[in-house]
Amino acid sequence: MGRRILISGASGLVGTALVAAFQHAGDEVLALQRSSSQAQTPWWNPSEGKVELGPIGALDAVIHLAGNSIAEGRWTKAQKERIVNSRVDGTELLCKAITSLPTPPKTLISASAVGFYGNRHQETLDEQSSLGTGFLAEVCSKWESATALAEDSNIRVVHSRIGVVLDPKGGALKKMLTPFRLGIGGRLGPGTQYMSWLSLRDIVGMMDFLIDNPALSGPVNLVSPHPVQNRELTQLLGKALHRPTFLPLPAMVLRALFGEMAEEIFLASTRAVPSKLLQAGYEFQDPELSDYLGTQF
Ligand SMILES: NC(=O)c1ccc[n+]([C@@H]2O[C@H](COP(=O)([O-])OP(=O)(O)OC[C@H]3O[C@@H](n4cnc5c(N)ncnc54)[C@H](OP(=O)(O)O)[C@@H]3O)[C@@H](O)[C@H]2O)c1
Repeated sequence: MGRRILISGASGLVGTALVAAFQHAGDEVLALQRSSSQAQTPWWNPSEGKVELGPIGALDAVIHLAGNSIAEGRWTKAQKERIVNSRVDGTELLCKAITSLPTPPKTLISASAVGFYGNRHQETLDEQSSLGTGFLAEVCSKWESATALAEDSNIRVVHSRIGVVLDPKGGALKKMLTPFRLGIGGRLGPGTQYMSWLSLRDIVGMMDFLIDNPALSGPVNLVSPHPVQNRELTQLLGKALHRPTFLPLPAMVLRALFGEMAEEIFLASTRAVPSKLLQAGYEFQDPELSDYLGTQF
């Protein structure tokens, strides 16, 4: 029999892929729609603190992905507040709603990010590694702490520390494609900074694996086993698209264009590894970036 899964942020890059894959596998998927009216349940409006799950019945798992985009727009004070509040308030609200259900779900998989670790240069980072510094680390720390009510209610909570999801249809890779296709793609800053990445089909596989593995809880790195330096990513993407990649984008230009965001998104180095998933026996579909990019175009 299929599972019953509630997903917030279901219309995003990850959510859309999850809904399609779970439905294809015979699961019943309920999207927690954002709405300001009393439309069909379940719906919520996290910015107004409203949520209505309705007569939702027993759920096997809740996957909580919702949050204001981190990489869109400049990090003004107001934008940073939206990034933090949409995650912290939304997570607390959702936890309050699911813990109040007559039959609370067994599992909550709540999104977080490898940004938790901050800029750590060449250090290898597993789930035991400490919290980093910077805005993203602060966001992730608050985001993870916001599930406390679910943990106190004995729901198994997984903090999925997601790496950069690479898929030509959306997110970071889609944004990179235009300059690279024009032949003006190049390494960012020094190019030695590590990026912890994973494919869209691996994040789907990992979420599926996490639902069915009750031994996994707390922080889990959702990344491929082989993080890459930016210069390697640049070279592999140029090769996959048959385009030159001679033009580096200097760090000072990135800082001028993107402000603080440049430091934390483009220039920070995060070399995270999926220790818990490897130990638990998850089988990666796309462990190597060269193979993965080679099949995408
Ligand atoms: N993609 C990545 O590379 C990556 C890496 C690390 C972490 N993550 C995290 O994983 C989660 C899912 O990623 P994604 O790439 O699928 O994100 P996404 O495409 O930006 O989708 C996020 C979804 O959250 C909802 N949302 C947007 N603004 C919101 C707001 N102000 N308040 C509440 N909900 C809002 C929307 O769904 P509805 O309209 O359906 O409500 C949106 O489709 C995000 O929280 C993201 O930060 C992603």
